[in-house]
Amino acid sequence: MIEGLTIGRYSVPFPVIQGGMGVRISGHRLAGHVALNGGIGIIAAAGLALGSRSFTGKNYFAADRQGLLDELRMAYEIAPDGVIGVNCMVAVSNYDEVVRAACEGGAKLIISGAGLPMNLPGLTADFPEVALVPIVSSIKAAELIARKWHKAFNRLPDAVVVEDPDTAGGHLGEKPEMIGTGQYDQYATVRGVKNYFKEKWNVAIPVIAAGGVWDRQDLQLALAQGADGVQMGTRFVVTEECDANDAFKQAYLNCSQEDIGLIMSPAGLPGRALTGNVEQVRQRDLDLGIRCPSGCLKKCAYKEGQERFCIVHALDRAQRGDMETGLIFCGSNAWKADRISTVKEVFEELFPLAERDAI
Ligand SMILES: Cc1cc2nc3c(=O)[nH]c(=O)nc-3n(C[C@H](O)[C@H](O)[C@H](O)COP(=O)(O)O)c2cc1C
Repeated sequence: MIEGLTIGRYSVPFPVIQGGMGVRISGHRLAGHVALNGGIGIIAAAGLALGSRSFTGKNYFAADRQGLLDELRMAYEIAPDGVIGVNCMVAVSNYDEVVRAACEGGAKLIISGAGLPMNLPGLTADFPEVALVPIVSSIKAAELIARKWHKAFNRLPDAVVVEDPDTAGGHLGEKPEMIGTGQYDQYATVRGVKNYFKEKWNVAIPVIAAGGVWDRQDLQLALAQGADGVQMGTRFVVTEECDANDAFKQAYLNCSQEDIGLIMSPAGLPGRALTGNVEQVRQRDLDLGIRCPSGCLKKCAYKEGQERFCIVHALDRAQRGDMETGLIFCGSNAWKADRISTVKEVFEELFPLAERDAI
C-alpha cells in the first residue's frame, strides 16, 4: 500500500521528491513533469541567470531572479495544480534574493542545503504558506537548525531531507576524507532526525532520504528503514523530460562505476561527478585566463585565488552538452543508467499500476 507525502500544506500521491539539480539539469520541464506525475518537482535555482533570456552578460543577479520566475511559470504551465518547489543553495551570493524570488514566483516549498539555512524562515516571513525543508547530513545539523528557527522565528522545518554523502550527486555536506569510509549510516541518521523532532519538539515531520535511491527496491528499503519519502536526483537525469542536453544524459548511459568520483568544488565542498575530464575543466579556465565573471558564490576559491575553476560556468557548459570542459555532476548510481525513459515510466516502475488500483 502506497502512502503519499504531505509537507506543510501540500500533499502528493507518491512519496518522491525530485532533487533540485543545478545548473538547469532540473529546470521547468523536469520539475513540471514530476509534479504532473504525482511527485514533488524541484527547480534548482543555482546559476539560472546563464540560461535566462534576460541575461546580457553583465546583469547576472537580475537575470538569475528573472530566470527563476520564468522557470516557475513554465513549470506550472506543465502542472498547474502540481507541487513545485525550488532548491536554493545557501552558498550562493544572492541566496536571500533567490529565496524571495522563489516565494514570489509561487514555489510551494523551498529546499535548502549547501550550508545551513539558518535564516530561511526570516526570508520567507511574508509567505507563511511556503513549506521550508533544510537538507542535512547529520542529526547535529538538524538540531542546530531547529533550535535557531524556533528561537528566532518560532518555526520548525516542515520536513528535513537527509542527504547521504556516500551516494548523492552534486555538492556534499561532509569532509572529503570522511566520504566512503563506511562511518556514515544513512538510515540511522534518518531515524535519529525523526526521533529528535518527536522527542524534543513533539512533532512528526516527514524525514526524506536522499542519495542512492534508484529503483523500487531502494525505495522500499528507504521506507522500511524509517524514511517518509525519498529524494531522487540521478535517476531523473536519464529521462526525456530532464532539462539537460542529450549529451549529458548520454554521459550517464556510457559511464562505468570507476568513472564516478569526488572533485573539490571551489565552493569548498566536495562534489560527486564524472571525474574523467576534471583536468580539462580546470585547464580551460587557466588557458583562457578567465577571472571570476559574476561573483555567484559567497566563498569561492576561484574568485579569491584563481584556484580550481569557475563552477557555475563549468556546470552550465555540461548542461549545454560540452562534455570536454563541462563538469558532469552525478550520484553514485549513474552507471546503472541503461536507457532514457519518461518520467511517467519511472513512476510506473516505482509504483506499479496494479498496486495503485488496490488503494
Ligand atoms: C547533476 C546533479 C546536480 C545537483 N545539483 C544540486 C543542487 O543544485 N542543489 C542541491 O541541493 N543538490 C543538488 N544535487 C543533489 C540532488 O538534489 C539529490 O539530493 C541527490 O542527487 C540524491 O541522490 P541520487 O542522485 O543518488 O538520487 C544534484 C545532483 C545531481 C546528480
